[in-house]
Amino acid sequence: MKILEVKELTKQFGGLTAVDKVSFDVDTNEIVGIIGPNGAGKTSLINAISGLYHPIKGKVFLEGRDISHSKPYQIARMGIGRNFQSSVLFMSLPVIENVFFASHLNYRIPYWKRFLRTPSAIREESTLRQKGEDILKSLGLEQIKNETADSLPHGYQRILGVCIALMTNPRLLLLDEPLTGMNQNEIQVMTDIIRRIRDTGVTIILIEHNVSAVIKLCDRIVVLDNGRKIAEGLPKDIQNNEVVIEAYLGREYNQ
Ligand SMILES: Nc1ncnc2c1ncn2[C@@H]1O[C@H](COP(=O)(O)OP(=O)(O)O)[C@@H](O)[C@H]1O
Ligand SMILES: [Mg+2]
Repeated sequence: MKILEVKELTKQFGGLTAVDKVSFDVDTNEIVGIIGPNGAGKTSLINAISGLYHPIKGKVFLEGRDISHSKPYQIARMGIGRNFQSSVLFMSLPVIENVFFASHLNYRIPYWKRFLRTPSAIREESTLRQKGEDILKSLGLEQIKNETADSLPHGYQRILGVCIALMTNPRLLLLDEPLTGMNQNEIQVMTDIIRRIRDTGVTIILIEHNVSAVIKLCDRIVVLDNGRKIAEGLPKDIQNNEVVIEAYLGREYNQ
């Protein structure tokens, strides 16, 4: 069953074609990697999928439904979550509050009820707080829940960015370079978290420069260069693909 179908997606900035007729599908519960040199169009591609860019050419379908013209908040509600290349956080607030704040997209109760603190609003708030606690617990991050975001090492701030993305209940999670700037220990924690998220039934698209992590984590890999898809396949095939080695991996990966 396909969760996402991207068909001939094209995004231009003025005269520059950042994403050039890219097509690929993602099956439910896969981890699909997107790799390619800097400027290849990886971030533009997931920005276009998550509705940040309009107009785009081509089509994006989520579980068969055309979302090509939907707005970012509609797409988030339909089930696509994402982190950002630079994590957006309330630095002076504790981790749990950052996670809780992210849940505003899930509020079902109208704003005036929340403002008046009606019983239903209080119930919903406590459910969402519990959910934030549960997410932190399920990812093994309970012990940092009361630390302020600015006191966390950079790597853990990025991990928090992923927890925040989970608060909207995504069925498909788009991760843009989650391992950037992390030390070996943080990379290990984050890759375990990505696996755990997938094991809870979430499908993942992973953009990453750390090729060995992508090869270990992903079921399939799509390779972009100059906005175009130049290859797609199983990690072992991508590692040995001449075109990919030439454009991106370099000879050392062909051992
Ligand atoms: N908002 C923008 N305005 C103009 N050009 C952009 C913008 N965002 C990205 N680009 C250009 O699009 C190309 C692809 O960028 P990007 O998607 O960020 O690549 P990647 O994430 O693979 O490094 C680059 O040439 C970049 O300079
Ligand atoms: Mg990028």
